[in-house]
Amino acid sequence: MKNLKLHEIRSEFLKFFESKEHLMLPSFSLIPKNDKSLLLIGAGMAPMKKYFTGELTPPSKRVTTCQKCIRTGDIENVGKTDRHATFFEMLGNFSFGDYFKEQAISWAYEFLTEVIEIDKDILWASVYEEDQEAYDLWHEKIGLPKDRIVKLGKDDNFWELEVGPSGPCSEIYIDRGEEYGCGDPDCKPGCECDRFIEVWNLVFTQFDKDEKGVYHPLSHPNIDTGMGLERLATVLQETDNIFEIDALQEIISWICKKIDYKYGEDRKKDVSIRVITDHIRAITFLISDTVTPSNEGRGYVLRRLIRRAARHGKLLGIKDSFLSELSKVVIDSWGEDYYPELKENKENIVQVIKIEEEKFLETLESGIKILNSYIDETINENSKTLIGEKAFKLYDTYGFPVELTAEILEEKDLNLDWQSFKDHMEEQRQRARDARNEGEEIGWSNLSDDEVYESYDSEFLGYELTESAGKVLLLTKDNKEVSSIGEKEKGIVVLDKTPFYGQSGGQVGDTGFIEADGLKVKVLDTKKSHNDLIIHVVEVLEGSLKKGQEIYSKIDVERRNNIRRNHSVTHLLHKSLKEVLGDHVNQAGSEVHADYMRFDFTHFKAISQEELKKIEELVNQKISESLKVTTEIKNLQDAYKTGAIGLFEEKYGDTVRIVSMGDFSTELCGGTHVSNTSEIEMFKILSEQSVSSGVRRIESITGPAVYRYLNQLEDLKNAGARILKTDKNSVLDKISSLIEENKKLSKEIEKLKLDNTEDEFSNIINNIKEFNSVKYVTYKFEDVDLDTLRNLADRVINEVGSIIVLFATVNDDKLNFVCAVSSDLIKEGYKAGNIIKKIAKIAGGGGGGRPNMATAGGKDLSKVEEALNSIEEELK
Ligand code: ALA
Repeated sequence: MKNLKLHEIRSEFLKFFESKEHLMLPSFSLIPKNDKSLLLIGAGMAPMKKYFTGELTPPSKRVTTCQKCIRTGDIENVGKTDRHATFFEMLGNFSFGDYFKEQAISWAYEFLTEVIEIDKDILWASVYEEDQEAYDLWHEKIGLPKDRIVKLGKDDNFWELEVGPSGPCSEIYIDRGEEYGCGDPDCKPGCECDRFIEVWNLVFTQFDKDEKGVYHPLSHPNIDTGMGLERLATVLQETDNIFEIDALQEIISWICKKIDYKYGEDRKKDVSIRVITDHIRAITFLISDTVTPSNEGRGYVLRRLIRRAARHGKLLGIKDSFLSELSKVVIDSWGEDYYPELKENKENIVQVIKIEEEKFLETLESGIKILNSYIDETINENSKTLIGEKAFKLYDTYGFPVELTAEILEEKDLNLDWQSFKDHMEEQRQRARDARNEGEEIGWSNLSDDEVYESYDSEFLGYELTESAGKVLLLTKDNKEVSSIGEKEKGIVVLDKTPFYGQSGGQVGDTGFIEADGLKVKVLDTKKSHNDLIIHVVEVLEGSLKKGQEIYSKIDVERRNNIRRNHSVTHLLHKSLKEVLGDHVNQAGSEVHADYMRFDFTHFKAISQEELKKIEELVNQKISESLKVTTEIKNLQDAYKTGAIGLFEEKYGDTVRIVSMGDFSTELCGGTHVSNTSEIEMFKILSEQSVSSGVRRIESITGPAVYRYLNQLEDLKNAGARILKTDKNSVLDKISSLIEENKKLSKEIEKLKLDNTEDEFSNIINNIKEFNSVKYVTYKFEDVDLDTLRNLADRVINEVGSIIVLFATVNDDKLNFVCAVSSDLIKEGYKAGNIIKKIAKIAGGGGGGRPNMATAGGKDLSKVEEALNSIEEELK
């Protein structure tokens, strides 16, 4: 057996399958593309489902990958057991209708026994009980003895996800020896003990399972295999668990060094270290794949992982944030060869973690205090269960993850009423849904998923045309299919051909008219159904619209032109952001409207005015360079060869549409664009702000909207000039002089106030008392600000020489104290800061300052006199 490092095993595997004519692809993103059934990628085959079903043509019939995977189902067990992890890497070789069982089994055996030299005698295999073919291959072709081949049922040897490609499988096990076993003489693969570890799963993918659980045979059989990289490393490095393999030890050592601890000495600490070690990989890779912390979906998974890791850091006694530093260990190690994206996104990853962790540490403190009070209440009520409402409040108001609440409760031997927590969540969701639905008149949102669209197809002509003839294929009204829509009624229309763009890729849908003799229909909006059918949301103005009718449709051209300007400018902006800010910038979302566009992108800090100017200028420069905009349809294979890696996952069809603007920008895009950048006319950024950690948003306008914007500015300037009674070119001068005047007036007011206190000054001097041969004076003011009092105190000292001054002032129910001590008395040990601290405390406040001058606040107005009078106590 070869003792290989984790990163070496990965490259040996990929190299081996490349030598068997597989195309090596980089790992797909952790974010599933065009697949609503998955939150995150959790298996090597998951991003390639459509290659298995034949919906998409793969770039090669043989592919090999090492796929980053996240599974959070067992997150509570991570750290506590030897095997559980949320992040892992899956090695895989795939055949899309090419080789099948025989080759898959032989190559797996060859890799294990010849490349990484695992002893033949310790290999076992399991096969699906009805798969005699696989059994025979293992025995007859490979020569595996019958007593090392186990037949197992569907639970063990049939592989499937919720939906999608599935089939019987054969698993390869390694016998780690009796010392790892349970002692049962009949112990074999399938047994719960640690003796036989499953390293490789070979799936003979023959079915496509639908949402209803029906298995449809695939037109051609495929191979999908998956081998846990960390698990294989455990075997080759002969360690007891995944946390002891080389690459994970790098992370563990960093943490141990940080807390000056030796791994293995304290079980509790080890668990926390393992949790962090596992989570930091998931966190780093998720952010690299553009996930940002939020309260929903993937963002919530990330937030939970960061918060869980941060809390375990606290349990280890780490005071400040540390996860961002630790992520660099992951980036440097994993980013070296197979995951270059980690290095490219390094700055962003580090920043996002830092911001989120620091935010959480603040929450954690207050959250734990509140939770502890809830726990006390629960115990006082003689209960063992925290009510769901309280957990929900912690979650909703304080952002405290409910799983963390549950974990802390468990540590205190309490539990959580999950059902009532979920009820509260559901209620909140319903409130949100109700709020949304109010705005949706026609209800196409439910309709867009409707099965009624399955059997239709419509052709989009709108890349070239703005109007065209067509025929009505389908009409619906109030969620039901109808044969006509009458005058003044609203409904949905599907046409065989249409120039209307259905909302997608961030671009809004077109509006316009559908007409025929005696018929006028207004298109209010255009959407896309789940199967990409273009659906027009309409209101009939005149006549009646009938199924089968020949019509003529026209989009609102002016509106579309503005949409095109705003869409094309997103491409120029995307590229300009990369040029000015760096390559880490990636589009995180966009909304292209007729009157403005919004562009979200990954970047970890605010953009300076100077950078923003540069970006805006670069975009405008590209507009004035009149770059030709060209589109090209390429099949996946060709597009792949041009090096457009990574973009594939974004696309469904066999072909991709590439939009280029001169040599400046090239993007995959299905939207509608100008034909020359000069048509955009002009670009103006209206705002730049943060949307969530690590994601910024720019809102901007183009073309005629910029002209309107200029006019508005002009109007504003004119109005300002009128109000300021000056001409419009002197507005700024006038404002400056008004500010100056204002300052002067403020000064005068201060002076007047001081004059007013002049009378009081003589009162103060008359009030001077003496205690223990120290002169002091106390005095109470109303509505005098602290600066004035400080000045007054200085004046008293100047006048009297050796004295302690103590003033109180009440302004709008706010109480403040000022204390000043002359320098000779400071030398004798009287310090203003110390005196005032004690005085303020009597009135329920606090404060302090230097020995010569100090200020403090107070809360209890009724205690002012008492506080002032206590000075003699202090002078003792
Ligand atoms: N898809 C198979 C698995 O994940 C190989 O185990």
